[in-house]
Amino acid sequence: MRGRPGGSWRTWLAPGSWTLYAVGLLPAVWTFHLAITDQLGADPLKTLERSLGLWALRFLVAGLAITPLRRMGGPNLIRWRRMIGLLAFVYALLHVTVYVWLDQGLDAGLIWKDIVKRPYITVGLLSFLILIALAATSNATMIRRLGAAAWQRLHRLVYVAAAAAALHFIMLVKAWPLEPFVYAAIIAGLLLYRAGYRRRRPSSP
Ligand code: HEM
Repeated sequence: MRGRPGGSWRTWLAPGSWTLYAVGLLPAVWTFHLAITDQLGADPLKTLERSLGLWALRFLVAGLAITPLRRMGGPNLIRWRRMIGLLAFVYALLHVTVYVWLDQGLDAGLIWKDIVKRPYITVGLLSFLILIALAATSNATMIRRLGAAAWQRLHRLVYVAAAAAALHFIMLVKAWPLEPFVYAAIIAGLLLYRAGYRRRRPSSP
């Protein structure tokens, strides 16, 4: 949810942002449509849950890639970064809601057992808690309250959230499919790029 400090709620609703939200939410609308019309295959609940989790991870990675892209001479998409971060949070929220409500039937005991017994759920929870903190502080009031430096330090946790989400994915797959490792490699590459950039320019955020 990193954005330019000093932005406001209006940044989320800037001209053009509705288009991004509408396009960004299309996969969710489409997947829920397929779920409601019984077109999600043999295990619709799992397919729905997985699809929402995957989109959360995709938006998280897309948000992380925006600054390196600009620094490497690519397009400047900084003004969309906060919105893309918010989309990542919305997908993570939908993913967790499907898990808590449809998968676990709102049974707190079952959910707690899962958190304690299944490390991939614990790691997913860590990622989700960070995303909540980042989404809750992605507004001008919180930036003012925390101060720009503390806010920036807090929002660096987006890398931890992304790494935890990729690990969550790797831990839950059986066998060795390529996809989760591709996400993990992209996130590791983005982290390394950022670390290298900060070493060359220590004053950068
Ligand atoms: C409380 C937090 C979370 C819980 C309880 C949770 C739970 C789950 C469950 C039950 C699955 C399906 C496992 C299966 O196939 O049997 C799953 C898959 C997945 N989750 Fe999460 N998750 C959480 C947070 C997150 C977050 C924050 C992200 C991303 C930002 C995420 C991304 C994914 C991905 C990418 C998959 C795999 C999708 C695929 O198989 O294609 N999860 N999660």
